[in-house]
Amino acid sequence: MTDEIALQTEDLVAGYIPGVNILNGCSVTVKKGELVGIIGPNGAGKSTLLKAVFGQVGIRSGKVLLGGQDITGLKADKLVTRGVGMVPQNNNVFPSLTIAENLQMGAYQRPKTYQERLDFVTSLFPELAKRLAQRAGSLSGGERQMVAMSRALMMDPQVLLLDEPSAGLSPVRQDETFINVAQINRAGVSVLLVEQNARRALQICHRGYVLDQGRNAHSGPGRELLNDPKVIELYLGTLATDHTATSTTPVVGG
Ligand SMILES: Nc1ncnc2c1ncn2[C@@H]1O[C@H](COP(=O)(O)OP(=O)(O)O)[C@@H](O)[C@H]1O
Ligand SMILES: [Mg+2]
Repeated sequence: MTDEIALQTEDLVAGYIPGVNILNGCSVTVKKGELVGIIGPNGAGKSTLLKAVFGQVGIRSGKVLLGGQDITGLKADKLVTRGVGMVPQNNNVFPSLTIAENLQMGAYQRPKTYQERLDFVTSLFPELAKRLAQRAGSLSGGERQMVAMSRALMMDPQVLLLDEPSAGLSPVRQDETFINVAQINRAGVSVLLVEQNARRALQICHRGYVLDQGRNAHSGPGRELLNDPKVIELYLGTLATDHTATSTTPVVGG
């Protein structure tokens, strides 16, 4: 990892309804090669932050920078070609299409690189290679997340935005999903990960931010946040009881 910045938001203010701000000055940095987690209570604005970065929510003030270039307010299709990949929380695969077709959709703006990118995602997730002809709708939730992340990786993003990839999955599938995210990051992709499973997210993140009411409330290395009594009390709650003994999730620096 370098000190070069992949993605940065500066004092973002954004919202859906006129006069109601959901993000109230949110500043987040992802360095190149970094895996950064965003945790926080329901309704804190985590998804809104990703949507604001990805041109899906009106930004009222503040900036979004990609590799130092201002991308504030660009629409999703432009952002994808500039190197921002997004995996929304829901409806992130085409269930009636095969895995291969989903991956082709991911690469439609750059069809020439399809084979090269397919080689990349199947090197990360060898199971995909064997099942390219299978319909995405017939996959388990965890497998679907793998396809959704792979689809976003088909454009070789400089930064990958993930909105709650573990939501709705069984504990075992959640573990697999966190392992997959860590693996994508280890392959060199900068990742901004939003998670409701705060403890697991902080375990795999280099750095984390706690978002509360649209502002960053705390930030620091994932390990430090995990052990910060204030963060535990306010944001990790009962999740603060130790699940790590049974977890197979790789731990940064551990
Ligand atoms: N499409 C929308 N229109 C209006 N308000 C919304 C919309 N989506 C989310 N909100 C509101 O924005 C706030 C933050 O939501 P969200 O970013 O989804 O939170 P989180 O992902 O942290 O749970 C909530 O109060 C929610 O009701
Ligand atoms: Mg959300």
